Amino acid sequence: MAAKEPEIIRDKDQMRKWSRAMRSQGKTIGLVPTMGYLHAGHVSLIREAHNHSDVIVVSIYVNPGQFSPSEDLFTYPSDFHGDIQKLRAVPGGVDIVFNPHNLYDYGINPNYTNTSTSSSNGEGVKLESCVEEKGLGHGTWVRVERLEKGMCGKSRPVFFKGVATVVTKLFNIVEPDVALFGKKDYQQLRIIQRMVRDLDFSIRVIGYEVVRESDGLAMSSRNVRLSPEEREKALSINKSLSRARFFAEKGQISCKELTDLVIQAINEAGGRVDYAEIVDQDSLETVEDIRSPVVFCVAAWFGKVRLIDNMEIRV
Ligand code: PAJ
Repeated sequence: MAAKEPEIIRDKDQMRKWSRAMRSQGKTIGLVPTMGYLHAGHVSLIREAHNHSDVIVVSIYVNPGQFSPSEDLFTYPSDFHGDIQKLRAVPGGVDIVFNPHNLYDYGINPNYTNTSTSSSNGEGVKLESCVEEKGLGHGTWVRVERLEKGMCGKSRPVFFKGVATVVTKLFNIVEPDVALFGKKDYQQLRIIQRMVRDLDFSIRVIGYEVVRESDGLAMSSRNVRLSPEEREKALSINKSLSRARFFAEKGQISCKELTDLVIQAINEAGGRVDYAEIVDQDSLETVEDIRSPVVFCVAAWFGKVRLIDNMEIRV
């Protein structure tokens, strides 16, 4: 069968028009939001989307709203042509690649210094992203307050307000019936599910399993920035999480002992742990003993690259 050529749409009004035309033909729309530099993890979401919808939109947009000015927005890997090649090869194909140039209004104030309008997380930490840094034009942010506090939210305080806001924008532009997100970004998935529930979006959010390289490393667009040595060291995340899950399933329920095991393994490999936490799968609250389904979430630095991974543990 000939490969399907995805149509590229860059304009948000045109995107919405396409979706509405599909809807009027009785077709259901699946959305897979991405920041591009696609790999097999993204492709697994697209393949799964075919099981839930008639037509598929993949968005490729590196969202400045979820990067703080000190993070890697400008070095985030990208390869649009390579992405299109990969999308052509997905069984069943992709109907639309939504690739907007910019989704934010930066306003007209080039000297904006964020002192009057920036919000904080209540502990004096500024919540300014690359969007506020540029101007005053965009003033509405979606916050999923309790779920965004811990784990990645601690070290990346602007991240989840940017994710929730851009996903809201994508939902409003594409108007999908279903949207797919990877469990690789577990906290992100739970935040989107909570947001959809709390704000009455008429969209079904589906979470899909973590896709790994053959040696266990969770696939990530940032993996290309690891040196061969760092990549080797980074295997300690998956290996130690697997060991911890093995022990937990054998009856070791103390989270302190299991997190110590993981932290020690990553440190010994030469990584720097940002957090290693065992949390409830729904509330994302930390637990002391494993007595119900939990997820063991880890973030760690290898050189200049911060990786996240997790494993669900069912007891
Ligand atoms: P990005 O990192 O490009 O990821 C896009 C989607 O792919 C997310 O739902 C993510 O969880 C999923 N994904 C990434 N690696 C995966 C893996 N190894 N296995 C399974 N799924 C994987 O996440 C984002 O972009 C952005 O925050 C976004 C939601 C697009 C908002 O800007």
